[in-house]
Amino acid sequence: MSNIPEKEPERQLCFMELLKTIVKDASLQKQRPLTYHVQTFGCQMNFKDSEKLAGVLETIGYVPEESENADILIYNTCTVRENANTKVFGRIGYLGTLKAKNPDMLIAVCGCMMQEEHNVEKIKKSYGFVDLIFGTHNIYMLAELLYEKLNSRKKTLIEIWDGTDRIVEDLPSARKFDFKAGVNIMYGCNNFCTYCIVPYVRGRERSRDPKDIIKEINELVDEGVSEIMLLGQNVNSYGKGLPEPINFAELLRKVCKETKVHRIRFMTPHPKDLSDELIEVMRTEEKLCPHIHLPLQSGSTALLKKMNRHYTKEDYLRLVDRIKAAMPDISLTTDIIVGFPGETDEDFSDTLDVVRYCGFDSAFTFIYSKRNGTPAASYDGQVPDNVVKRRFDELLKVCREVSEPSLMKRVGSTYEVLVEGVDENESGMLTGRLANNLLVHFKGEPDLIGKYLNVRLTECKGFYFLGDLLLDKFLQ
Ligand code: 5AD
Ligand code: SF4
Repeated sequence: MSNIPEKEPERQLCFMELLKTIVKDASLQKQRPLTYHVQTFGCQMNFKDSEKLAGVLETIGYVPEESENADILIYNTCTVRENANTKVFGRIGYLGTLKAKNPDMLIAVCGCMMQEEHNVEKIKKSYGFVDLIFGTHNIYMLAELLYEKLNSRKKTLIEIWDGTDRIVEDLPSARKFDFKAGVNIMYGCNNFCTYCIVPYVRGRERSRDPKDIIKEINELVDEGVSEIMLLGQNVNSYGKGLPEPINFAELLRKVCKETKVHRIRFMTPHPKDLSDELIEVMRTEEKLCPHIHLPLQSGSTALLKKMNRHYTKEDYLRLVDRIKAAMPDISLTTDIIVGFPGETDEDFSDTLDVVRYCGFDSAFTFIYSKRNGTPAASYDGQVPDNVVKRRFDELLKVCREVSEPSLMKRVGSTYEVLVEGVDENESGMLTGRLANNLLVHFKGEPDLIGKYLNVRLTECKGFYFLGDLLLDKFLQ
């Protein structure tokens, strides 16, 4: 096919045009629209990638389907912990029965798990009905891969890249929410925490040009988006390697100044290089939400060294002091791993110390999961299951104890809330998000979704609040 452009994104747009005809013909034949379903596992990055996959599928004529019983089904996988893998393989097994009922169905598996050879081998060996396998680096190529699969006799088309230095922009995206969106500011990770598989499956750090970021945000604002989340594995290293030097704090200032977005969030900063300049920008720029997700991983200096985290217990505590001194009402949340190889009772009690001191509003707690290919997988001193379980339960208890007073002190105050949707569990109730990322449920009609309202918090229910909508105080 000589008339296919080499350059991106033109190349993918060309494949989308070719696919439009194929999808239209198939849907005429079936006398119904063709459907798609994208199932996402893992983090915000993967959710963002899935919106890009859905954007391509909608552009070529597929319509969304709630269930997995769709004409094309994509699993966008995560491999950060072993249970993420187990979940995916459990589900893939079941897809065989769906395909038996609908032999025209196309099944694709992509994302982080597919960057690991043993997972691809397992699919080839045990789940031969999977049509298409691709990785994290070539996710933008869905249209081309789909076209190739439809025109080849290969049972399973596999296209995995070891890495990439490319960033392909300006392809369609189908967003889950009309009013909020994620925006990638960088891809990959260079930190190599010794437990973590991410640098191996997402490749080296690449920052996007600030002009492209601003352009994307302005387009989103024009489409009605008022809250954005800037996404990167370690946003604090944003800008390294760009031709014109810029750091993350400067990018934030630029986004505040050059876009009309109402709320700006970001995920995830690394404690090792969270600068005073960043704290100062957060303190002074109103659009920046008063929430920092600051992964601790462990409170023990010795363990942090083994994890290659580049900070000590005291560094972390001092950082939290600096943040709280600048922004007393900030909401801090964290990630903690229990049972890292060699973790002693003293190490664990250091973690509890830090949790008590920092008063996190919430903590994501994980049991250490051995990832083949990471340095920690070969470390001595794997902690026995019963000890890990005991520590994990204790950590949960302490996290709950410390979050309670921090949450309770907000009851009685009124906050600006972005209404995100209806409360699935109670009819007549809506769910909204405070600027500090906490959730509140309150009575209201669904036509308020996407609006900013004032809500007075009346009760704390653990990880969310109940509140009353102050209807006379519409903000927007
Ligand atoms: N085992 C357990 N938790 C892990 N995380 C990353 N790798 C592992 C692992 N091997 C956790 C970290 C990280 C979060 C996204 O997942 O806490 O911050
Ligand atoms: Fe999972 Fe990490 Fe991949 Fe996100 S980047 S989907 S957390 S493995």
